[in-house]
Order: sequence, then structure tokens, then C-alpha cells
Amino acid sequence: MIRSKIAGIGMYVPEKVVSNHELTKYMDTSDEWIQERTGIKERRYAHRTKETTTTMAAEASKIAIERAGLIPSDIDFIVFATLSPDYYFPGCGVLLQRALGMKTIGALDVRNQCSGFVYALSVADQYIKTGMYKNVLVVGSEKHSFALDFSTRGRNVSVIFGDGAGAVVLQPAEEEEGRGILSTHLHSDGTEAEILAMYNPGTHANYWVKDRTLANFNEAEIGEMFISHEMIDKAQIFPYMDGPAVFKIAVEKFPEVILEALHANGYQPADLKLLIPHQANLRISQFVQKKLGLRDDQVFNNIQYYGNTTAASVPIALCEAYEKGILKEKDLVCLAAFGSGFTWASALLHW
Ligand code: ACO
Repeated sequence: MIRSKIAGIGMYVPEKVVSNHELTKYMDTSDEWIQERTGIKERRYAHRTKETTTTMAAEASKIAIERAGLIPSDIDFIVFATLSPDYYFPGCGVLLQRALGMKTIGALDVRNQCSGFVYALSVADQYIKTGMYKNVLVVGSEKHSFALDFSTRGRNVSVIFGDGAGAVVLQPAEEEEGRGILSTHLHSDGTEAEILAMYNPGTHANYWVKDRTLANFNEAEIGEMFISHEMIDKAQIFPYMDGPAVFKIAVEKFPEVILEALHANGYQPADLKLLIPHQANLRISQFVQKKLGLRDDQVFNNIQYYGNTTAASVPIALCEAYEKGILKEKDLVCLAAFGSGFTWASALLHW
């Protein structure tokens, strides 16, 4: 049986480090509040004009491709996860194909926010297992800093997010190698889609949000145009999050989807070498760790230094764990994510 293994991994974060203290220049917040509620000490922000979601993805991809012993023209397919694309359309996949001078291979964009990378990995895994492709590039990249409300009004969201990119190259592995993805598990429930969302610009014409009570929005004023001066003037173009509601669902779905992956393969939490959770919020990761009875050394967290990088957070964390020498070949690793949609997902693999 053919499995897919991670043959190369890379990450890129912008040089600019933004501390919590620096954010206090723009909004009423404090280092203490941010660290206590989210665990975040600092995050990276992309260069405003020279770095985009695609340029960061390209840097991470170059490292992943080189570590796989390949060159860009060896890649057969791209799966690109992001919620902050360079353009509304076309997607970032084609821009990455162009940036790296790859062949005219297929390029697929995945729109699953925080679960995006795990979803993208699952898609790539199917292509490898069916024998359709041999070298699939899977990327998660985000430039959040360009689309956050840096006034006090947006502080509950803005302090959480950071920029960066992570990438892996998936290749076929024979079962005897003892490496590769054992299974992936994908879920969605759109019932509460508006709890964590960016409504504008969009085509909803107020349809979906009209029955919601949203702190930042007056229902009569949104959605009549794809984008309007009014939306901009009233700051209705920024992400909305009901933080406490997200927390409640996240701490239920994370453990559920991690256990689903473990049990599907006959494992228990104690068997895990490392859990790489989407870096949503340190409090969420700690809650999940406690619920699953995992030791500190079984859970990898780096949100303290990068903030929440959405689709990039899992590959960045996995890459750091690899670069720090924490992961040894064949170690049992679980990747897990939960995010806007809601969507949640996991992947269990032997490194
Ligand atoms: N600095 C200072 N005060 C703030 C800030 C801030 N950055 N943000 C909000 N506050 C204030 C609020 O205005 C509010 O003040 P009030 O009581 O006077 O009205 C108070 O803090 C509490 O506001 P809540 O939004 O209820 O804040 P909460 O204590 O729940 O913390 C947080 C907010 C950290 C987002 C929390 O809800 C949480 O952990 N949510 C989980 C969701 C999450 O982490 N999402 C990450 C992205 S989504 C994902 O990746 C899946």
C-alpha cells in the first residue's frame, strides 16, 4: 500500500517582530492582557509593499522543495491554503506556480481558514495514494497584518493574528518504510458560520447575516454592494469574532478530532510523540492538552512568538519542531486544526 510522506518541509516568517507593547501605540490594550488571554508575546508582520501571501509562500516552498532533494520543476501539483490571498481572484496557487517558475501543473486553492493546511494535506494525500502525482507541494500562508482593525474597536481580533508561511512536499512511501500519513479526518458545520467571519467584500447581500446580532454591524447598512465607501468608513471590512463562543466550540472539537484520528489507527493519546495543534490561542491548546491527558513535551506550541497564523500555523509549528530536532523518523505525530466555518480536521502520521 502506498502512503504519502513529508519529504521536505520549510517555513518563512517576516523579519519584522511586533511586540504586544508596540500594539499599545495603536489601541487600548496591554502586554499583560494579551499574554494572559492568548499566550502571545509577539508576532511577525510582513513588509507592507514587498511581501505578500505568495512571496512568503514561495520562500517557505523553496526550502521544502530543496529539503526534499528536488527543484521547483519537479513539483506535479500545488495545493495552497490561505484566507488572505493576494487577489480576490485568481488564487495564490497560480501566483506561486509563476513565482517559482514551475511547469504548467495544476494549482488548487483551499479556503478553509485555520483548518486550511490540514484540509490541503488531505487533498494532496489522496493524489499521492491514487498514484496520480509523485511530488505535491502543500502550502499554508497568510498576510493578516494588511487587513486588521488596529483601532481599539478591533482589538479582540487584531492582537491575535500574525503573518507567515509553511510548506511541505508530499511524496509516495511504501508501507514498509514505516513513514507517512495514516489517515486524515475532515469536518464542517456551517450552523455558526458568522461567529468567526469576514463578511465584506462578499456577495451575501445581507442574506446570511440579517438575523445575527453582531456588535460591529448594523444589518441595514451592510451587504447591499460588494464593497462600498460606507463599509470602509464604518470599518465593516474587518474580521468579526465572537471570542468566547469560538473558545467553547474549539475546546470541544479539537479533542474530538484528535481522538478520532488516534482511535481510527488503534492508538491512544499516550502513544503520541507530538501533537501539533493549530496555534489558535495558547489557552485553547492548554485546555486540549489537559482534556487529553498529554504531557507538556507531547504538545508543540509556538504561538508565543508568531501569534495565530491561521493556515500557516500548523506547517510553521511542524517545521520548527523538526528544525529543533524534536521529531525523529517514524515518530507518531498528530496535526489538528479548528477554525472559521466551523471546520475542524486532523491528520495522523509517522514522521
Ligand atoms: N486588550 C484589552 N482588552 C480587550 C482586548 C484587548 N486586546 N480585547 C478585548 N478586550 C476586552 C473587551 O473589550 C472586554 O471588555 P469589557 O468587558 O469591558 O466589554 C473584555 O476584554 C472581555 O472581552 P471578550 O471578548 O469577552 O474577551 P475574552 O476574555 O473572551 O478574551 C479572547 C478574548 C482572547 C479572544 C477569548 O475570547 C478567546 O480566547 N477566544 C477563543 C477564540 C480564539 O482564540 N480565536 C483565535 C482565532 S480563531 C481560530 O484560530 C480558531
